[in-house]
Amino acid sequence: AGIIQLSEWNCDSDLLDPMCGSGTFLIEAAMIAKNYPPNYSRNNFLFQNWKDFDVELFDSIKKSVIKKIKKINFKIYGYDSSHSTVKKAVLNIKEAGFENYISVKKEDFFNTKKDFDKKLYLIFNPPYGERLTVNIESFYKNIGDTLKKNYSNSTASFITSNLKSLKFIGLKHKRKIKLYNGKLESRLATYELYEGSKKKN
Ligand SMILES: C[S@@+](CC[C@H](N)C(=O)[O-])C[C@H]1O[C@@H](n2cnc3c(N)ncnc32)[C@H](O)[C@@H]1O
Repeated sequence: AGIIQLSEWNCDSDLLDPMCGSGTFLIEAAMIAKNYPPNYSRNNFLFQNWKDFDVELFDSIKKSVIKKIKKINFKIYGYDSSHSTVKKAVLNIKEAGFENYISVKKEDFFNTKKDFDKKLYLIFNPPYGERLTVNIESFYKNIGDTLKKNYSNSTASFITSNLKSLKFIGLKHKRKIKLYNGKLESRLATYELYEGSKKKN
């Protein structure tokens, strides 16, 4: 959690998680963009049973917080190549109450293309070889190639715990920060994709 806040996305462009898994990043993005207070969908709090609980005060605070909820006029969307994962993401998004703001589709990121001119922010957490399901070298090279060829005028950030993988991307990063994904040392790397992004070297 907190990856969206660490990214450079400012709620001012469409946001795509092209390998969205269960949809955590998408939900976090929608929470931030809508300015939802924590526990927004929760109806009961223990403190409501306190003897001195002030219903009117609680209602007025709730109203003022609800007033601060924002409209969003950009898209938050995700892809995942696994059909069952997409189904899970759809359920999670519904449970979080964001089905009107987030859409998810079964797609192989490597076969997708940005088909509009305006700016896009991509944020994701690619497989990092934990279950040896992907060949890290070709997979990360493919990420770099797809971003470069199909996603110009975008910013892409991804977090990986496979520190070696970054050298296969073939793009020059704009920013790289060290973080921990649980106990795993990770990097959040950000790339700026211009028309004809320069290859490293
Ligand atoms: C580490 S998980 C992402 C976890 C996600 N951030 C979450 O919060 O659940 C990586 C995901 O990438 C998906 N994936 C792998 N190859 C893909 C591809 N070529 N295109 C789209 N998704 C892919 C996997 O199905 C998996 O769900």
